[in-house]
Amino acid sequence: MEARDWYDTPLYYDIIFDVDTGLEADFLEAMWRLHAGGIGGKCGSVLEPACGSGRLISEMARRGWITAGFDANAHAIRFARDRLKRQKLQRNAHLWEDRMESFRLPPELGTPPRQFDLAHCLVSSFKYLSSERAAEAHLRLVASALRPGGIYVLGMHLTDYTDPRLTHERWVAERDGVHVVCNTRTWPAKRRTREERMRSRLLVTFPGTDRAPVRQETHWTFRTYSARQARKLFRTVPEWEIVACHDFHHDPDRVRPFDDSYADIVFILRRR
Ligand SMILES: C[S@@+](CC[C@H](N)C(=O)[O-])C[C@H]1O[C@@H](n2cnc3c(N)ncnc32)[C@H](O)[C@@H]1O
Repeated sequence: MEARDWYDTPLYYDIIFDVDTGLEADFLEAMWRLHAGGIGGKCGSVLEPACGSGRLISEMARRGWITAGFDANAHAIRFARDRLKRQKLQRNAHLWEDRMESFRLPPELGTPPRQFDLAHCLVSSFKYLSSERAAEAHLRLVASALRPGGIYVLGMHLTDYTDPRLTHERWVAERDGVHVVCNTRTWPAKRRTREERMRSRLLVTFPGTDRAPVRQETHWTFRTYSARQARKLFRTVPEWEIVACHDFHHDPDRVRPFDDSYADIVFILRRR
């Protein structure tokens, strides 16, 4: 088993998580219409912090959105750019390497920079921000990148600090002769330090070929949130109002409460 950052091999990540891309893009468009004055049949502009392999960047660009995204990982950005080029979508999409806690919009987005209608960060990437200060800085930066009335759709797993169990998730997907099995493990969170140890293991095989399987493992730590801790954080950035919560079913009709009764929460934050 090779120790490796799984975002350094964006193809394998993309194969697993691309399965829900269409559903997630539908949800983003529905939230934009419901909460940000979006008009059906029209497209706006969208910013994706920590865009990774760019699966949602490509999908939103394909639907006609002006898209922008950045990621700390150079391999992921290269992968995302190559796909946009292949799909001839690069004219409406801007990608750059940057960090969630300190990003700047690049000059090609205008001076003063374009103000986006929508931003999103769906799959717990926010929990990579390792301190309250970094999380606050990120929320301020995203607020200043959106127009008043624009929304930030932010998805993350909440933590139950009383749960002593290890949790495990498994995904299997195949694309163009590359078969990927991904197992992630989450260790019980530490309430005092608000840390959660994570591990992903990928087994990649190439059916019908002699190519040797790839086995790789990544360890990282997430900063944890209960509903109360998330609420406290959002209050420190008064530019945001919380307008709705959903869950990872990404069903626009399924509005959920802002509490700890479920783990996979999606916050809809609107820029005042
Ligand atoms: C779970 S992936 C999500 C990718 C993409 N948003 C998606 O939905 O497929 C998390 C991404 O966060 C990036 N990342 C982690 N910490 C970051 C930071 N501080 N700033 C920018 N990107 C970061 C990783 O490189 C990785 O591509």
